[in-house]
Amino acid sequence: MLQGNGFLVRGWQKGDEVSLQKNADNLNVSAFLTDRFPSPYSLEAARGWVESLLDQDPLINFAIAIKNQVVGGIGIEFREDVYRKTGLIGYWLAEELWGKGIMTEAVKLVTAYAFQNLDLIRLQAGVLSKNPSSMRVLEKAGYVKEGVLKRSVIKRGEILDEHVYAILK
Ligand SMILES: CC(C)(COP(=O)(O)OP(=O)(O)OC[C@H]1O[C@@H](n2cnc3c(N)ncnc32)[C@H](O)[C@@H]1OP(=O)(O)O)[C@@H](O)C(=O)NCCC(=O)NCCS
Repeated sequence: MLQGNGFLVRGWQKGDEVSLQKNADNLNVSAFLTDRFPSPYSLEAARGWVESLLDQDPLINFAIAIKNQVVGGIGIEFREDVYRKTGLIGYWLAEELWGKGIMTEAVKLVTAYAFQNLDLIRLQAGVLSKNPSSMRVLEKAGYVKEGVLKRSVIKRGEILDEHVYAILK
């Protein structure tokens, strides 16, 4: 468990389903996430997500919680094969809490956790071109933009560039 300023970054727990569904079911939250993030976000999807993460080892997917209500998520995904020392970081936050610095702090906490606890030498994030606030989060957390993969993404019918950010151990 990682302690933020007014929030916790912790593993997923039974009971998280209702607040997860409520805060994740928002078109503004899913707008620049991959299509793996359900939209609309049903209670059934929330149940499936929490259930699949109850026995994580190692712990790489976290809820962001305030007073035991899930207000966001942040996680690391291991790349494979020759890329296996690279982790991909992804995150989302309830819209009502945007702009307070929460995700910048959460990204810093999870980045430090990953380099201390996981066999990774690089963390990477892909940000869609229409998501400047996420680019700002990564820059404030010490990530560097390494390049732009032009027209590599289609999201909701629109072709977008992906901006690749990374931080090294
Ligand atoms: C992106 C997201 C995680 C940001 O979380 P947050 O807690 O609001 O981020 P922070 O408050 O730590 O920082 C946001 C920064 O973006 C800036 N920002 C906001 N809107 C902006 C815009 N249109 N253009 C440029 N910067 C912008 C803020 O001013 C702030 O920077 P500052 O501290 O220098 O002023 C949140 O908006 C979110 O969950 N979005 C939907 C999911 C998503 O896109 N996830 C990322 C996928 S890569």
